[in-house]
Amino acid sequence: MAEPIRLAISGATGRMGQAVARLAAAADDLEVVGGIAQEAGEMEGGASVVTPGEAGRILGDAEVIVDFSHPDLLREVAERAGGAALVVGTTGLGADDEERLDDAARRAPVLVASNFSVGVNLLLDLAERAARALGDDYDVEIVEAHHRRKEDAPSGTALSLGEAVARGRDRPLGELRVDGRSGRPGARPRGEIGFHALRGGDIVGEHRVMLIGDRERVELGHVATSRDLFAEGALRAARWVRGREPGRYGMADVLGMT
Ligand SMILES: NC(=O)c1ccc[n+]([C@@H]2O[C@H](COP(=O)([O-])OP(=O)(O)OC[C@H]3O[C@@H](n4cnc5c(N)ncnc54)[C@H](OP(=O)(O)O)[C@@H]3O)[C@@H](O)[C@H]2O)c1
Repeated sequence: MAEPIRLAISGATGRMGQAVARLAAAADDLEVVGGIAQEAGEMEGGASVVTPGEAGRILGDAEVIVDFSHPDLLREVAERAGGAALVVGTTGLGADDEERLDDAARRAPVLVASNFSVGVNLLLDLAERAARALGDDYDVEIVEAHHRRKEDAPSGTALSLGEAVARGRDRPLGELRVDGRSGRPGARPRGEIGFHALRGGDIVGEHRVMLIGDRERVELGHVATSRDLFAEGALRAARWVRGREPGRYGMADVLGMT
């Protein structure tokens, strides 16, 4: 059998990091060399978790780093990843973070996905096709729901869905995006893409794209019921990305949907 893939987990103590560690520990073709988080400890499977300051050995030892953490940690990891491939699930990234990922992608493969599920990647394709087919006569509203501890809004997946709709209309999302509405926003401008974020309880992740016409409404949606869905997808991406040329990749490449 081939040598197992040496995996480091950034954000190892988080909800997603723990799911990745548990599934990786059960896989014969993966070896977890360590994790990184704000507090040191141990992961399921026995590998140690260290703080960012102590992460040099783990980052040096890893072939693939799977990151579900926070932009602050991701920035640090991207700078210190060396030749290791990066699989990034962290959302809420800014322009600076994207630049650092671009820098890392000159040295190694970097795969970023706002959502690692097959279903959501299919939904992205369907949303783009629906927006192209229906045009500006249909108003698009994107509604997402997540657990009460989620830090960023709208979700990275909602923004990816908005980008897919904007692509379907051959316009940049920045020109069309509006987040929530309150007060007296006035009549809805043609072409606007509205985002609405619900937060509560333990919701894993739900997304709905509504294309609302005068006499009908098309709704495309996805409901995730377990974080293992995203963790499995990230491990699939880790297996796919090992040994690729430096550069930026997405989940559509892994799924052959490009
Ligand atoms: N792409 C996808 O499919 C997908 C799916 C689900 C979630 N996500 C995204 O993944 C990210 C993590 O989500 P989660 O629910 O797992 O979050 P979480 O439970 O809050 O876990 C965050 C992890 O990052 C660590 N961390 C945070 N800030 C840090 C810092 N400044 N320095 C070092 N470590 C830091 C935390 O360490 P401590 O515990 O020590 O604080 C923890 O291990 C979020 O951006 C979320 O939106 C993406």
